[in-house]
Amino acid sequence: MKKLHIILAGILTILAVNISVAQENKAKILVLFYSDNGGTYELAKEVAKGIESEKNTETVIKQVKTSSNPKLKNIPVASVDELKSYDGIAFGSPVYFGNISTGMSEFLSKTVNLWTKHALEGIPATVFMSAGSGAGKELAIQSFWNSLAVHGMILVPTGIRGNENIDKNIPQGNTVLGTTSLNSVKNTERPSQSERYLAELQGKTIAKVSLALKGTFVQKEIIPTQEKADVNKVLQQKQIVLPQVPKPAGNYQPYVRSGNLVFINQVALKDGKIVNPGKLGTALNEQQVKEATKVTMLNVLAVLREAVGGDLNKVKQCVQLTGIFNTPDDYAKHADLMNIASDLTVEVFGEKGKHARGTLGASSLPVNSSVEIQAVFEVE
Ligand SMILES: Cc1cc2nc3c(=O)[nH]c(=O)nc-3n(C[C@H](O)[C@H](O)[C@H](O)COP(=O)(O)O)c2cc1C
Repeated sequence: MKKLHIILAGILTILAVNISVAQENKAKILVLFYSDNGGTYELAKEVAKGIESEKNTETVIKQVKTSSNPKLKNIPVASVDELKSYDGIAFGSPVYFGNISTGMSEFLSKTVNLWTKHALEGIPATVFMSAGSGAGKELAIQSFWNSLAVHGMILVPTGIRGNENIDKNIPQGNTVLGTTSLNSVKNTERPSQSERYLAELQGKTIAKVSLALKGTFVQKEIIPTQEKADVNKVLQQKQIVLPQVPKPAGNYQPYVRSGNLVFINQVALKDGKIVNPGKLGTALNEQQVKEATKVTMLNVLAVLREAVGGDLNKVKQCVQLTGIFNTPDDYAKHADLMNIASDLTVEVFGEKGKHARGTLGASSLPVNSSVEIQAVFEVE
Protein backbone atom coordinates (compact mmCIF):
# COMPACT_ATOMS: atom_id res chain seq x y z
CA MET A 1 0.00 0.00 0.00
CA LYS A 2 2.82 2.30 1.01
CA LYS A 3 4.58 1.46 -2.28
CA LEU A 4 1.44 2.38 -4.26
CA HIS A 5 1.32 5.78 -2.51
CA ILE A 6 4.92 6.45 -3.42
CA ILE A 7 4.31 5.50 -7.09
CA LEU A 8 1.20 7.71 -7.25
CA ALA A 9 3.06 10.64 -5.67
CA GLY A 10 5.84 10.19 -8.24
CA ILE A 11 3.37 10.19 -11.17
CA LEU A 12 1.65 13.32 -9.84
CA THR A 13 4.99 15.11 -9.47
CA ILE A 14 5.98 14.24 -13.05
CA LEU A 15 2.57 15.46 -14.29
CA ALA A 16 2.87 18.71 -12.36
CA VAL A 17 6.38 19.32 -13.75
CA ASN A 18 5.19 18.57 -17.30
CA ILE A 19 2.23 20.92 -16.97
CA SER A 20 4.40 23.73 -15.69
CA VAL A 21 6.98 23.17 -18.48
CA ALA A 22 4.13 23.22 -21.06
CA GLN A 23 2.84 26.47 -19.51
CA GLU A 24 6.29 27.97 -19.74
CA ASN A 25 6.67 27.03 -23.40
CA LYS A 26 3.38 28.69 -24.32
CA ALA A 27 3.42 32.10 -25.95
CA LYS A 28 1.31 34.45 -23.86
CA ILE A 29 -0.25 37.14 -26.02
CA LEU A 30 -2.17 40.20 -24.91
CA VAL A 31 -4.95 41.68 -27.02
CA LEU A 32 -5.07 45.23 -25.75
CA PHE A 33 -7.69 47.64 -27.03
CA TYR A 34 -9.47 50.90 -26.48
CA SER A 35 -13.04 51.25 -27.74
CA ASP A 36 -15.85 53.80 -27.49
CA ASN A 37 -18.72 51.95 -29.12
CA GLY A 38 -17.51 48.36 -29.12
CA GLY A 39 -16.38 48.08 -32.76
CA THR A 40 -12.72 47.64 -31.80
CA TYR A 41 -13.72 45.07 -29.18
CA GLU A 42 -15.50 43.02 -31.85
CA LEU A 43 -12.26 42.87 -33.83
CA ALA A 44 -10.28 42.13 -30.64
CA LYS A 45 -12.37 39.02 -30.04
CA GLU A 46 -11.61 37.76 -33.55
CA VAL A 47 -7.89 38.43 -33.12
CA ALA A 48 -7.97 36.51 -29.82
CA LYS A 49 -9.79 33.64 -31.56
CA GLY A 50 -7.02 33.48 -34.17
CA ILE A 51 -4.33 33.46 -31.49
CA GLU A 52 -6.00 30.65 -29.57
CA SER A 53 -6.41 28.55 -32.69
CA GLU A 54 -2.62 28.23 -32.82
CA LYS A 55 -0.95 25.54 -30.72
CA ASN A 56 0.99 26.51 -27.60
CA THR A 57 -0.50 29.95 -27.25
CA GLU A 58 -2.73 31.57 -24.74
CA THR A 59 -4.34 34.96 -24.91
CA VAL A 60 -5.98 37.50 -22.72
CA ILE A 61 -8.14 40.42 -23.84
CA LYS A 62 -7.80 43.63 -21.86
CA GLN A 63 -8.70 47.27 -22.35
CA VAL A 64 -6.60 50.32 -21.57
CA LYS A 65 -9.13 51.98 -19.28
CA THR A 66 -12.48 51.28 -17.65
CA SER A 67 -15.49 51.88 -19.84
CA SER A 68 -19.07 52.74 -18.98
CA ASN A 69 -20.23 51.03 -22.17
CA PRO A 70 -22.25 48.00 -20.94
CA LYS A 71 -20.54 45.80 -23.58
CA LEU A 72 -17.12 46.70 -22.20
CA LYS A 73 -17.50 47.43 -18.55
CA ASN A 74 -16.61 43.90 -17.36
CA ILE A 75 -13.46 43.59 -19.43
CA PRO A 76 -10.30 43.79 -17.29
CA VAL A 77 -8.04 46.81 -17.56
CA ALA A 78 -4.34 46.28 -18.28
CA SER A 79 -1.65 47.99 -16.26
CA VAL A 80 1.21 49.64 -18.14
CA ASP A 81 3.73 47.55 -16.25
CA GLU A 82 2.28 44.19 -17.25
CA LEU A 83 3.00 44.78 -20.97
CA LYS A 84 6.56 43.53 -20.57
CA SER A 85 5.36 40.14 -19.34
CA TYR A 86 3.81 39.11 -22.70
CA ASP A 87 5.42 37.31 -25.65
CA GLY A 88 3.36 39.36 -28.10
CA ILE A 89 0.78 42.14 -28.07
CA ALA A 90 -2.05 42.89 -30.52
CA PHE A 91 -3.12 46.51 -30.15
CA GLY A 92 -6.59 47.73 -31.17
CA SER A 93 -8.02 51.23 -31.32
CA PRO A 94 -10.65 53.26 -33.15
CA VAL A 95 -9.36 55.53 -35.93
CA TYR A 96 -9.53 59.19 -34.86
CA PHE A 97 -8.76 61.65 -37.65
CA GLY A 98 -6.37 59.28 -39.39
CA ASN A 99 -4.65 58.65 -36.09
CA ILE A 100 -4.89 56.56 -32.92
CA SER A 101 -7.68 57.34 -30.48
CA THR A 102 -7.05 59.58 -27.48
CA GLY A 103 -7.82 56.70 -25.10
CA MET A 104 -5.03 54.55 -26.56
CA SER A 105 -2.73 57.55 -26.93
CA GLU A 106 -3.15 58.40 -23.24
CA PHE A 107 -2.23 54.84 -22.32
CA LEU A 108 0.84 54.82 -24.55
CA SER A 109 2.03 58.10 -23.07
CA LYS A 110 2.25 56.32 -19.72
CA THR A 111 4.77 53.80 -21.10
CA VAL A 112 7.79 56.13 -20.98
CA ASN A 113 9.24 54.22 -18.07
CA LEU A 114 9.05 50.95 -20.00
CA TRP A 115 10.71 52.65 -22.94
CA THR A 116 13.66 54.00 -20.94
CA LYS A 117 14.16 50.51 -19.50
CA HIS A 118 14.00 48.94 -23.03
CA ALA A 119 11.31 46.70 -21.52
CA LEU A 120 9.28 46.10 -24.71
CA GLU A 121 12.22 45.66 -27.08
CA GLY A 122 11.88 42.59 -29.29
CA ILE A 123 8.26 41.88 -28.36
CA PRO A 124 6.17 41.33 -31.51
CA ALA A 125 3.27 43.76 -31.94
CA THR A 126 0.45 44.03 -34.43
CA VAL A 127 -2.27 46.66 -34.85
CA PHE A 128 -5.95 46.45 -35.81
CA MET A 129 -8.36 49.36 -35.89
CA SER A 130 -12.03 50.11 -36.08
CA ALA A 131 -12.80 52.92 -38.53
CA GLY A 132 -15.93 54.76 -39.62
CA SER A 133 -15.71 55.41 -43.35
CA GLY A 134 -12.13 54.17 -43.37
CA ALA A 135 -10.71 57.61 -44.16
CA GLY A 136 -7.03 57.61 -43.17
CA LYS A 137 -7.10 54.06 -41.87
CA GLU A 138 -3.59 53.15 -43.08
CA LEU A 139 -2.27 56.47 -41.78
CA ALA A 140 -3.78 55.63 -38.43
CA ILE A 141 -2.08 52.23 -38.27
CA GLN A 142 1.18 53.76 -39.39
CA SER A 143 1.05 56.41 -36.69
CA PHE A 144 0.30 53.66 -34.16
CA TRP A 145 3.38 51.84 -35.46
CA ASN A 146 5.53 54.91 -34.76
CA SER A 147 5.06 54.53 -31.01
CA LEU A 148 5.64 50.78 -31.12
CA ALA A 149 8.79 51.27 -33.24
CA VAL A 150 10.18 53.70 -30.68
CA HIS A 151 9.70 50.96 -28.11
CA GLY A 152 11.73 48.64 -30.36
CA MET A 153 8.81 46.24 -30.75
CA ILE A 154 8.78 43.96 -33.79
CA LEU A 155 6.00 45.18 -36.07
CA VAL A 156 3.91 42.43 -37.59
CA PRO A 157 1.91 43.47 -40.69
CA THR A 158 -0.80 41.46 -42.39
CA GLY A 159 0.19 41.97 -46.03
CA ILE A 160 -2.40 40.65 -48.47
CA ARG A 161 -2.87 37.51 -46.40
CA GLY A 162 -6.45 36.18 -46.85
CA ASN A 163 -7.51 38.81 -49.41
CA GLU A 164 -8.41 36.12 -51.96
CA ASN A 165 -11.14 34.89 -49.60
CA ILE A 166 -12.89 38.15 -48.76
CA ASP A 167 -16.20 39.35 -50.16
CA LYS A 168 -15.29 41.92 -52.83
CA ASN A 169 -18.94 42.97 -53.38
CA ILE A 170 -18.86 45.34 -50.41
CA PRO A 171 -16.12 47.67 -49.16
CA GLN A 172 -13.82 45.98 -46.66
CA GLY A 173 -11.34 47.33 -44.14
CA ASN A 174 -8.43 45.24 -45.34
CA THR A 175 -5.04 46.97 -45.36
CA VAL A 176 -1.55 45.53 -45.74
CA LEU A 177 -0.60 46.87 -42.30
CA GLY A 178 -3.41 45.42 -40.23
CA THR A 179 -7.13 44.73 -40.24
CA THR A 180 -9.61 47.56 -39.94
CA SER A 181 -13.39 47.57 -40.10
CA LEU A 182 -15.56 50.14 -41.87
CA ASN A 183 -18.20 50.68 -39.22
CA SER A 184 -20.07 53.57 -40.79
CA VAL A 185 -20.64 51.85 -44.12
CA LYS A 186 -24.38 51.16 -44.15
CA ASN A 187 -26.42 48.08 -44.98
CA THR A 188 -24.02 45.43 -43.71
CA GLU A 189 -23.28 44.19 -40.28
CA ARG A 190 -19.85 45.46 -39.09
CA PRO A 191 -17.29 44.17 -38.62
CA SER A 192 -18.24 42.30 -41.78
CA GLN A 193 -17.67 38.55 -42.01
CA SER A 194 -14.60 39.25 -44.14
CA GLU A 195 -13.20 41.76 -41.65
CA ARG A 196 -13.72 39.25 -38.85
CA TYR A 197 -11.96 36.61 -40.95
CA LEU A 198 -8.99 38.95 -41.57
CA ALA A 199 -8.78 39.83 -37.88
CA GLU A 200 -8.69 36.14 -37.02
CA LEU A 201 -5.89 35.59 -39.55
CA GLN A 202 -4.04 38.52 -37.99
CA GLY A 203 -4.37 36.76 -34.62
CA LYS A 204 -2.86 33.60 -36.11
CA THR A 205 0.04 35.63 -37.54
CA ILE A 206 0.94 37.37 -34.29
CA ALA A 207 0.66 34.02 -32.50
CA LYS A 208 3.10 32.34 -34.92
CA VAL A 209 5.62 35.20 -34.71
CA SER A 210 5.35 35.44 -30.91
CA LEU A 211 5.87 31.71 -30.52
CA ALA A 212 8.84 31.72 -32.88
CA LEU A 213 10.53 34.62 -31.10
CA LYS A 214 9.60 33.65 -27.56
CA GLY A 215 12.70 33.79 -25.37
CA THR A 216 14.86 35.29 -28.15
CA PHE A 217 15.01 38.73 -26.63
CA VAL A 218 15.41 37.74 -23.02
CA GLN A 219 14.80 40.82 -20.95
CA LYS A 220 17.93 41.44 -19.00
CA GLU A 221 17.52 43.29 -15.78
CA ILE A 222 18.45 46.74 -17.04
CA ILE A 223 20.67 48.29 -14.47
CA PRO A 224 20.02 51.99 -14.74
CA THR A 225 23.22 53.85 -15.42
CA GLN A 226 23.86 55.59 -12.21
CA GLU A 227 22.19 58.90 -12.58
CA LYS A 228 24.87 61.53 -12.64
CA ALA A 229 23.92 63.70 -9.73
CA ASP A 230 24.36 67.38 -10.42
CA VAL A 231 26.78 68.40 -7.67
CA ASN A 232 25.78 72.05 -7.92
CA LYS A 233 22.16 71.04 -7.32
CA VAL A 234 23.19 68.73 -4.44
CA LEU A 235 24.74 71.76 -2.73
CA GLN A 236 21.51 73.68 -3.24
CA GLN A 237 19.26 70.84 -2.01
CA LYS A 238 21.39 70.21 1.07
CA GLN A 239 21.71 73.94 1.69
CA ILE A 240 25.48 73.75 1.73
CA VAL A 241 26.73 77.28 1.12
CA LEU A 242 30.32 77.60 -0.01
CA PRO A 243 32.16 80.67 1.29
CA GLN A 244 34.23 83.18 -0.64
CA VAL A 245 37.64 81.78 -1.53
CA PRO A 246 39.97 82.86 1.32
CA LYS A 247 42.84 85.12 0.24
CA PRO A 248 46.31 83.54 0.56
CA ALA A 249 48.12 84.63 3.74
CA GLY A 250 51.58 84.21 2.19
CA ASN A 251 53.46 83.61 -0.98
CA TYR A 252 51.34 80.75 -2.33
CA GLN A 253 48.29 80.04 -4.53
CA PRO A 254 44.84 78.92 -3.18
CA TYR A 255 45.27 75.91 -5.47
CA VAL A 256 47.64 74.50 -8.02
CA ARG A 257 46.54 72.33 -10.89
CA SER A 258 49.06 69.82 -12.21
CA GLY A 259 47.70 67.76 -15.08
CA ASN A 260 44.29 66.57 -13.89
CA LEU A 261 45.11 66.90 -10.20
CA VAL A 262 44.22 69.92 -8.09
CA PHE A 263 46.12 70.52 -4.82
CA ILE A 264 44.52 72.64 -2.06
CA ASN A 265 45.46 73.50 1.55
CA GLN A 266 43.12 75.39 3.85
CA VAL A 267 42.67 76.39 7.51
CA ALA A 268 39.52 77.38 9.48
CA LEU A 269 39.31 80.89 8.12
CA LYS A 270 35.86 82.49 7.86
CA ASP A 271 35.21 86.15 6.98
CA GLY A 272 38.87 86.95 7.58
CA LYS A 273 38.94 85.37 11.08
CA ILE A 274 39.93 81.92 12.38
CA VAL A 275 36.92 80.01 13.72
CA ASN A 276 37.60 78.40 17.14
CA PRO A 277 41.34 79.05 17.27
CA GLY A 278 43.76 77.23 19.57
CA LYS A 279 44.64 73.78 20.82
CA LEU A 280 42.25 70.94 21.54
CA GLY A 281 42.09 70.17 25.26
CA THR A 282 43.41 73.61 26.25
CA ALA A 283 41.38 76.29 24.46
CA LEU A 284 38.93 73.98 22.71
CA ASN A 285 36.80 70.88 23.09
CA GLU A 286 36.27 68.28 20.35
CA GLN A 287 32.96 69.81 19.24
CA GLN A 288 34.65 73.16 18.60
CA VAL A 289 37.44 71.51 16.58
CA LYS A 290 34.80 69.67 14.58
CA GLU A 291 33.10 73.00 13.80
CA ALA A 292 36.46 74.38 12.67
CA THR A 293 37.00 71.26 10.54
CA LYS A 294 33.71 71.86 8.72
CA VAL A 295 34.62 75.49 8.05
CA THR A 296 38.01 74.33 6.72
CA MET A 297 36.51 71.71 4.40
CA LEU A 298 34.00 74.25 3.06
CA ASN A 299 36.97 76.48 2.24
CA VAL A 300 38.60 73.57 0.40
CA LEU A 301 35.40 73.05 -1.65
CA ALA A 302 35.13 76.77 -2.40
CA VAL A 303 38.69 76.79 -3.75
CA LEU A 304 38.00 73.59 -5.68
CA ARG A 305 34.96 75.20 -7.32
CA GLU A 306 37.17 78.06 -8.48
CA ALA A 307 39.73 75.56 -9.78
CA VAL A 308 37.09 73.89 -12.02
CA GLY A 309 35.71 77.16 -13.35
CA GLY A 310 32.61 77.15 -11.13
CA ASP A 311 31.25 73.72 -12.10
CA LEU A 312 31.84 71.09 -9.43
CA ASN A 313 30.47 68.44 -11.81
CA LYS A 314 33.94 68.50 -13.36
CA VAL A 315 35.37 66.84 -10.26
CA LYS A 316 36.12 63.20 -11.08
CA GLN A 317 37.37 62.04 -7.70
CA CYS A 318 38.47 63.22 -4.32
CA VAL A 319 41.84 61.43 -4.24
CA GLN A 320 43.20 62.20 -0.78
CA LEU A 321 42.42 64.30 2.28
CA THR A 322 44.95 64.93 5.02
CA GLY A 323 43.77 66.47 8.29
CA ILE A 324 46.26 68.07 10.66
CA PHE A 325 44.94 68.99 14.12
CA ASN A 326 46.41 71.09 16.89
CA THR A 327 46.26 68.48 19.65
CA PRO A 328 48.02 67.50 22.87
CA ASP A 329 50.81 64.88 22.59
CA ASP A 330 48.69 62.03 23.94
CA TYR A 331 45.60 62.70 21.76
CA ALA A 332 44.58 59.74 19.57
CA LYS A 333 41.10 60.43 18.15
CA HIS A 334 42.13 62.45 15.08
CA ALA A 335 40.03 60.18 12.89
CA ASP A 336 36.81 61.26 14.65
CA LEU A 337 37.62 64.90 14.01
CA MET A 338 38.50 64.30 10.36
CA ASN A 339 35.30 62.35 9.71
CA ILE A 340 33.51 65.71 9.60
CA ALA A 341 35.49 66.65 6.47
CA SER A 342 35.24 63.19 4.92
CA ASP A 343 31.47 62.94 5.48
CA LEU A 344 30.92 66.35 3.92
CA THR A 345 32.96 65.36 0.85
CA VAL A 346 30.97 62.16 0.32
CA GLU A 347 27.71 64.02 0.95
CA VAL A 348 28.56 66.45 -1.85
CA PHE A 349 30.19 64.12 -4.39
CA GLY A 350 28.69 60.70 -3.58
CA GLU A 351 30.92 57.84 -4.81
CA LYS A 352 33.35 60.35 -6.31
CA GLY A 353 33.83 61.81 -2.86
CA LYS A 354 35.35 58.65 -1.40
CA HIS A 355 39.06 59.19 -0.76
CA ALA A 356 42.26 57.98 0.84
CA ARG A 357 43.02 59.81 4.05
CA GLY A 358 45.76 60.76 6.46
CA THR A 359 45.40 62.43 9.87
CA LEU A 360 47.99 63.71 12.28
CA GLY A 361 48.46 65.92 15.30
CA ALA A 362 50.67 68.99 15.48
CA SER A 363 51.85 71.08 18.43
CA SER A 364 50.94 74.28 16.59
CA LEU A 365 49.33 75.32 13.30
CA PRO A 366 49.50 78.50 11.20
CA VAL A 367 47.41 81.51 12.34
CA ASN A 368 46.48 79.48 15.44
CA SER A 369 43.93 77.41 13.48
CA SER A 370 42.96 74.21 15.25
CA VAL A 371 42.93 72.37 11.94
CA GLU A 372 44.49 72.37 8.47
CA ILE A 373 43.24 70.24 5.59
CA GLN A 374 45.30 69.27 2.57
CA ALA A 375 43.30 67.94 -0.35
CA VAL A 376 44.01 66.38 -3.73
CA PHE A 377 41.22 66.11 -6.34
CA GLU A 378 41.18 64.63 -9.82
CA VAL A 379 39.24 66.85 -12.23
CA GLU A 380 38.19 66.84 -15.90
C1 LIG B 1 -12.90 62.08 -32.90
C2 LIG B 1 -13.20 61.04 -33.92
C3 LIG B 1 -12.48 61.00 -35.08
C4 LIG B 1 -12.71 60.03 -36.04
N1 LIG B 1 -11.96 60.03 -37.16
C5 LIG B 1 -12.14 59.06 -38.07
C6 LIG B 1 -11.34 58.99 -39.23
O1 LIG B 1 -10.42 59.80 -39.46
N2 LIG B 1 -11.58 58.00 -40.12
C7 LIG B 1 -12.55 57.06 -39.94
O2 LIG B 1 -12.68 56.19 -40.76
N3 LIG B 1 -13.33 57.10 -38.83
C8 LIG B 1 -13.14 58.06 -37.88
N4 LIG B 1 -13.91 58.08 -36.75
C9 LIG B 1 -14.93 57.05 -36.55
C10 LIG B 1 -14.44 55.92 -35.63
O3 LIG B 1 -13.20 55.48 -36.01
C11 LIG B 1 -15.43 54.79 -35.67
O4 LIG B 1 -16.66 55.23 -35.18
C12 LIG B 1 -14.97 53.56 -34.96
O5 LIG B 1 -15.74 52.48 -35.36
C13 LIG B 1 -15.09 53.67 -33.44
O6 LIG B 1 -14.58 52.50 -32.86
P1 LIG B 1 -15.24 51.86 -31.56
O7 LIG B 1 -16.57 51.30 -31.94
O8 LIG B 1 -14.31 50.82 -31.09
O9 LIG B 1 -15.37 52.96 -30.57
C14 LIG B 1 -13.71 59.07 -35.82
C15 LIG B 1 -14.43 59.08 -34.62
C16 LIG B 1 -14.18 60.05 -33.69
C17 LIG B 1 -14.96 60.05 -32.39
